Amino acid sequence: MWPAIWQFAARQEELPEPGDTVVYENVGKSWLLVRQDDGSVRAFANVCLHRGRKLRTSSGPAEEFECPFHGFTWATDGSLKRVPCQWDFPHLMQKDMSLPEARVAEWQGFIFINEDGKAPPIEEYLSPLDEHFKRWRLDECYTALWVGKVIHANWKCVSEAFMEAWHSIITHPQLLPFTADANSKYNVWGDHVNLTLTPFGVLSPHLQDQGHDEQFIVDSFARGSGRTAQANEGMQIPEGHTARSYIAELNRQQFVEALGYDGADLSDSEMVDAFTYNVFPNFSPWGGFAPNVVYRWRPWPDHRSALMEVRLLGRKPKDGPMPEAAEMRFLSEDEPWDTVQEWGQLGYVFDQDMENLPYVQEGMEASANGVLELGNYQESRIRHFHQTMDKYLARED
Ligand code: FES
Ligand SMILES: [Fe+2]
Repeated sequence: MWPAIWQFAARQEELPEPGDTVVYENVGKSWLLVRQDDGSVRAFANVCLHRGRKLRTSSGPAEEFECPFHGFTWATDGSLKRVPCQWDFPHLMQKDMSLPEARVAEWQGFIFINEDGKAPPIEEYLSPLDEHFKRWRLDECYTALWVGKVIHANWKCVSEAFMEAWHSIITHPQLLPFTADANSKYNVWGDHVNLTLTPFGVLSPHLQDQGHDEQFIVDSFARGSGRTAQANEGMQIPEGHTARSYIAELNRQQFVEALGYDGADLSDSEMVDAFTYNVFPNFSPWGGFAPNVVYRWRPWPDHRSALMEVRLLGRKPKDGPMPEAAEMRFLSEDEPWDTVQEWGQLGYVFDQDMENLPYVQEGMEASANGVLELGNYQESRIRHFHQTMDKYLARED
């Protein structure tokens, strides 16, 4: 499947200047994404064509790619530049020794690669994502925070934990005072795109008979979320506002207007809700105008563990340059997600998810009947994901 799909490999701000290089690796393949002099990005196989050493093991600027073994060297446009002891390689003179390439495409600042020359163009693959994200302009955003951690569960199992909201009732009970968990909306489009739309700033249906007022929602939200402006206790809802419209207004001021953009026509939903999109198979960008979460999952290093990455995209100031991209902070085995201060309680939410996942993996392997049961509606994205994967796995080529 992997060689046939468009993989999210890097963000534009990771390689702003010519020569800047990102090493992207997945399921045994290794790629050099290199910014070219004309501003485009190309992706070269990160393998020396002499005796196979990886050319680079980390991202960073490059003037050329010199193999650390014997010194075969390629230019940043992938052409062979230098061969030490060239007299010994007369047979290579007539041969194309350029580094093999993958296709590259960019969408809203995300750079994708595809190894399959016959795969559909990215516009078709992502459809209808572009329509949905037109207002949200993630190309105006940059990686403000980026955290990765290895989870002892298959990458699909990890990603599926982020495809529905209804596990909140048991896994994240602290979210219920301000989260539409069991009344989130689910959509699927075509083969590759689906969505959970989880409203925030409203009571969970599980709490609706308990007589809570709007101030209770705000008080709980301030304690519970890392994706809201001025998340501190003591916030009082002003006259004429609901909890939801008040939180939306605070977000509008901090995440849009303070950066020089006009927030007047942005809806409350775009300011507070979780528009959790997935692009098959492992790329999950959030929509809206509050800091956008982006997930990516990969097998790491094999099918029983996954690297889960979470980014928070910040919007660049309207009249300022693109801020520098944050580098990935790799959490060790014993560092919980909650050690990351910058995202407030979001880290704690991830830690709650991770409490389940290794045991989901172990449980699935130990299963007596080998069968999982999915809810008809709330787990429709998981079903969609597997239907698409089955189509790819059934392909002849
Ligand atoms: S393996 Fe790269 S130069 Fe020999
Ligand atoms: Fe969760």
